Amino acid sequence: MKSLKKVTLNFNNMMKERLGSQGIGINDIKKLNQKIKQAIKNIKQKREDGLLGFMYLPYDLKVRDEIKKVAELVQNKYENVVVLGIGGSALGTIALRNALKHPFYNMLPSEKRKTPKLFVMDNVDPEVASGLFDVIDLKKSVINIITKSGATAETVAFMKILWKKLIDKAGKNKLKEHIIITTDKEKGELRKIANTFGFISFVVPGNVGGRFSVLSPVGLFPLACIGINIDDLLKGAAYMDTICSNDNIWKNPAYIRAILHYISDIKFGRKITVMMPYSNALKDIADWFAQLWAESLGKKYSVQGKVVYKGLTPVKALGATDQHSQVQLYIEGPFDKVITFIKIDKFRSDITMPANFQEFDSISYLSNKKMSALLNAEQIATEMALAKNQRPSMTITLPEISEWTLGQLIYMLEVETAFIGELYNINAFDQPGVELGKILTYAFMGRKGYKDKLKQIKISKGIKKFII
Ligand code: PA5
Repeated sequence: MKSLKKVTLNFNNMMKERLGSQGIGINDIKKLNQKIKQAIKNIKQKREDGLLGFMYLPYDLKVRDEIKKVAELVQNKYENVVVLGIGGSALGTIALRNALKHPFYNMLPSEKRKTPKLFVMDNVDPEVASGLFDVIDLKKSVINIITKSGATAETVAFMKILWKKLIDKAGKNKLKEHIIITTDKEKGELRKIANTFGFISFVVPGNVGGRFSVLSPVGLFPLACIGINIDDLLKGAAYMDTICSNDNIWKNPAYIRAILHYISDIKFGRKITVMMPYSNALKDIADWFAQLWAESLGKKYSVQGKVVYKGLTPVKALGATDQHSQVQLYIEGPFDKVITFIKIDKFRSDITMPANFQEFDSISYLSNKKMSALLNAEQIATEMALAKNQRPSMTITLPEISEWTLGQLIYMLEVETAFIGELYNINAFDQPGVELGKILTYAFMGRKGYKDKLKQIKISKGIKKFII
């Protein structure tokens, strides 16, 4: 029974009982009672009003079935799937591919790989873009262009290049066989293009923000193409939804994590959130989470429009690697961080260290021990060392890495983000701060209607003096 393989949260090392004066007391939580109640009410209301679209995704079985059908066609016909997308249109796919597939998936021979290679092009670095064409044959590739807004510069830039190359290689009449679009149902240029050319297309629901969209066709389609079990991903998320719908904060891992992060900020001034999986496969889950946390919580205004400058800075780390890089800072540096460890109980493969070098005590103690035992011992050791130094941490444990457990993890972190947004009284679902950069890029690149924007933005000319 899958439900036994439950993702769990241990937050002992956040609490006063463990950390003394640096820990959170039950009273700190009680003091927030009214605020917490209001946040729970808001989440429920917003869900009911259809504003929290990500909460519906685990149950959209019609879309899931459409995705599976098209993915099967792709699997039978193509060698490569190339995703063009950025931010929320890419990070979840990268994270889940790297978590769930072989660490060298694209390099496996086709008989071992069984499903197409997956390339996610989420930047406009010309060297990476050129490199792609050295390793794929476009005639054997399907391009999934993903942009909710339909006009993101990086994504459409890459689309323009691929479009021409596809026409040159395969001919205009073959475009339809190579392009699949994922975008808004009605809005945006990409929808128009999809309609004009009759491309297969998927819809990003209007009420699902980019960074909350991994369980929509944005992530599900490319992941299904490479054989990831999207049924289990959704089931895992739906299972976590039942847990995260509990009003009792002590039984709701998303709510309690949000509350603990919130108190860590307002009471102790801890504004850095470190996510540290002890598993290379989960390294990019920390990357996905960083975007979710940063873009959702970094806000100038409260819901009522008051200037508040809120936000918690996400930091990605990897255990055990970063024990030799970051952990010194975490243990002895400023008291400004909350660390989340992600620990795996049972790895998908393991290696036992042979009984050699027995004459050296500093090496022989590892003989006949599993590599996973060493990694997990390092995780617990770091957690204990932090606690000993009154540094707060929480541990999320995955019984194994699978679609079922990752569906749970992703959904839990999404609910946590939505809930802490309520505690901060900010809108966790917009991103007005990135707009100015976009507008200036358009202006620099000569987009129609944006030329005058540069003149409107006053930046002191004196700044040139400081260039050496
Ligand atoms: O979370 C978000 O909304 C953003 O990070 C978007 O995902 C990102 O900007 C890409 O947008 P789009 O899908 O419209 O191309």
